[in-house]
Amino acid sequence: MNLSTMQRLRLDYKPKVPDVFFANLNYIKPIDGKATTAQSNQEELKEIFPHTYGMPVVQFIEGETEPNTDIVTFGVILSGGQAPGGHNVISGIYDVLKSANPKSRLFGFLRGPAGLVKNEYIEITKELISEYRNTGGFDIIGSGRTKIESKEQIESSIENVKKLGLDALIIIGGDDSNTNAAFLAKYFIEANLETKVIGVPKTIDGDLKNKYIETSFGFDTATKLYSELIGNICRDVNSSKKYWHFIKLMGRAASHIALECALKTQPNICLISEELAEKNWTLKQVRDYIVDIIVKRSNNGEDFGVVLVPEGIIEFIPEMDELIEELNDLMALKGGAFAKLKTFKGKCSWLKKRLSEKAYSLFESLPESISSQLLMDRDPHGNVQVSRIETEKLLIHLVTDRIKELKEEGKFNGKFSTYAHFFGYEGRSAFPSNFDANYCYNLGITAFLLATYGYSGYIASVENLTDEVKYWKPCGVPLSMMMTVERRKGKMVPVIRKSLVDLKGKPFKTFEKNREAWAIKTQYRFPGAIQYFGDSEVCNIPTKTILLEKGDLKAKRKNK
Ligand code: FBP
Repeated sequence: MNLSTMQRLRLDYKPKVPDVFFANLNYIKPIDGKATTAQSNQEELKEIFPHTYGMPVVQFIEGETEPNTDIVTFGVILSGGQAPGGHNVISGIYDVLKSANPKSRLFGFLRGPAGLVKNEYIEITKELISEYRNTGGFDIIGSGRTKIESKEQIESSIENVKKLGLDALIIIGGDDSNTNAAFLAKYFIEANLETKVIGVPKTIDGDLKNKYIETSFGFDTATKLYSELIGNICRDVNSSKKYWHFIKLMGRAASHIALECALKTQPNICLISEELAEKNWTLKQVRDYIVDIIVKRSNNGEDFGVVLVPEGIIEFIPEMDELIEELNDLMALKGGAFAKLKTFKGKCSWLKKRLSEKAYSLFESLPESISSQLLMDRDPHGNVQVSRIETEKLLIHLVTDRIKELKEEGKFNGKFSTYAHFFGYEGRSAFPSNFDANYCYNLGITAFLLATYGYSGYIASVENLTDEVKYWKPCGVPLSMMMTVERRKGKMVPVIRKSLVDLKGKPFKTFEKNREAWAIKTQYRFPGAIQYFGDSEVCNIPTKTILLEKGDLKAKRKNK
């Protein structure tokens, strides 16, 4: 291997584990909590998941037990978008599996759930895993977004699980992939398979969280990386004082990434999609909000600034959302006919006859680059691919036109030049921060324990993440309690509920209290690069979001 120094040093990093995992395996035992219920559609979900609905949350504590030390065979899948730390989940599973019985085996399905359907896999060996510990990316086995839903896909998954004799299947994924996990658990039980299915909360988007899942892995590293870049741009504009940078940030529907980066860097503007939806803002109102700040700053002699735009914003502007919903339904139900239309003009006249008048007139008013992006293929889960819609450019287009009008009316005398950026892929495969490296390793161990203790249809979790690792609490949460019913591809289907930014929550409230000052006065903060080695104060800090949501448990304990 030809390794960079960083890569070599990261391979040697030893993830920290909580005290409960220091114990021998026969001194870690599961404790069941109360039965759980979903937050909505309880009866419907109970009917769909009769074997796994209502199971208890489980916690692992120190205490005598008799662990299963038989030889076992586990399978693992990396699913969906990359998130820093995936390789450490696999290292955690591998290490605990081999320590329980060195003859046990771990297989990795290739390129996501498709590997399970096609029976394409490799064995994870000591040599292989040793090249990937504490590294970013999902390249050890690859990832993919296949949704296992057709009869054939389900049957071949069952067949392949039988062929390998899997005792458990661990699915490392986001909300859609964990929906897959909940269904596979159901199908395996219905097929009388003993194979347990456990999910692991992955996604840089930060939208897979709830009372028991404090954060999804990857969010910490990705937001640290984007914040470094945003901070650098802030410093650049503050030096040259001549550009407005519009930065779209990944995150799909939720604005958690944008909010965390805003809390870290204090930009002039950060749009929060969830707030726009609540205020029922139109595109014009969003434009006017941005223009107002540009004019005020210009009046202070500051013709520069930084605007953060969450990736999923257009789905939260009610008029745009209605248009997208209508397009989604048309493309799902009449996809065949639509696919035959070759030119943009042809597509427009087809849509004119089928969209509502309101939706079509909005569609027509958009720049052609944006309206054609709205017509691109949906992902296998029926989601519009927001990462491919250049919202930052749409906003620049709308704002520039308005500034021109103001100039003509003599109401704007400054200068206005822009740059557009999209930060997303840069952060998904970074070396995991110490936080993500530790968190993921422990999620892997927890997933193994859940499966060996016979739980299925669960997601691994770790609580107390704002405390020192030794105090972290590993647990398991039934997937069915995290589900709801949503419209996808024109049909109502059960899916894991996405957690959006809570407008009453502390992270948003903190941002709201400060944003006016950050908009007009220049108060940028420059977080700098992620630190992997050195002082704990810079190496092991969790995100501002989780600190505000959960409180700083480490500080609280020290002040007692
Ligand atoms: P997951 O929900 O799979 O974790 O997706 C994360 C993400 O990075 C989103 O932020 C983004 O919209 C999407 O993946 C991009 O998908 P793709 O990798 O297919 O381009």
